[in-house]
Amino acid sequence: MTIDHGIKTIGIIGSGQMGGGIAQIGAVHGFKTIIYDLSDNALTKCKTLHEKLLARAVQKERMTQNEAAAALANITYASNIEALDPSDIVIEAVVENADIKKQIFADLATRFTGNQILATNTSSISITDIATSVGDAADRFIGMHFFNPVPVMKLVEVINGLATSQETTDRVLALSTAMGKVAVPANDRAGFVSNRILMPMINEAFYAWMEGVAEPEHIDQIMTLGMAHPMGPLRLADFIGLDTCQHIMEVMAEGLNNPRYLACPLLKQLVTAGRLGNKTGQGVFDYPQK
Ligand code: CAA
Repeated sequence: MTIDHGIKTIGIIGSGQMGGGIAQIGAVHGFKTIIYDLSDNALTKCKTLHEKLLARAVQKERMTQNEAAAALANITYASNIEALDPSDIVIEAVVENADIKKQIFADLATRFTGNQILATNTSSISITDIATSVGDAADRFIGMHFFNPVPVMKLVEVINGLATSQETTDRVLALSTAMGKVAVPANDRAGFVSNRILMPMINEAFYAWMEGVAEPEHIDQIMTLGMAHPMGPLRLADFIGLDTCQHIMEVMAEGLNNPRYLACPLLKQLVTAGRLGNKTGQGVFDYPQK
């Protein structure tokens, strides 16, 4: 049976890599997409990236010029939050900070009092915890965890909070499919499934480096060539952001109440030094700024 998700317009909060990617795939799959960010500069960068990626898709004959133009016309870039009002779902993709997310959702719950869905793209913070900020709307609250780069990665990890209704879950599973993704459910435990397994592997790669088991490039080569991973764990850590990796380990150590998830001292040291990965030009490896 096909579930009617009833969604025509997708609102997104945050125009960074994740928010921008979610907006792009929504627009490409025919949804009206409104992307809100406080920063005009961030919105301009996001729009430029959309134009570039869609032009590349045309060049690669993955879509026609008309389809790319239609996708771009589906996206509204807005720095006023009222622009989100027509949304049938709002997906939040801001910084991984529980307090900031709760503030945003407390406000959204007062703006969206119908049957709109409120979703967070958090990678590890408890859905049940963030849902405490939305009061009675907790049954319409859910986790939709996308993966970077969003236009390329097929998965959406869908996480129910304790109060999420079956209707909300069914609508989000159907919406994810309509956005061209494969939705897979996971339960609301710190790190869900993806980061519960990925982050300890990345953390172990830092231990292997710290203990001199091999040089960073050799650790990555062993994992790419031996395990067919598209990127080695250390390059992937740089891609995700070393601060994000440390933060996710900390959320799991606390949330799962288990010291085996403590971040490796070498990972923490690089973060302290401001070596956060691709975004700062240096992490485990160097990334000369273009
Ligand atoms: N946006 C859109 N498309 C992108 C992109 C981006 N940011 N980056 C790469 N691509 C596309 C390229 O355009 C290219 O497509 P075409 O071949 O059609 O032109 C394709 O992806 C491959 O890119 P490249 O040839 O440049 O490079 P690559 O083959 O090395 O692939 C990669 C790059 C897709 C990032 C690949 O290395 C990969 O899959 N890495 C692993 C990524 C991963 O594990 N992501 C999950 C991170 S964890 C997470 O996001 C969640 C969390 O909670 C931490």
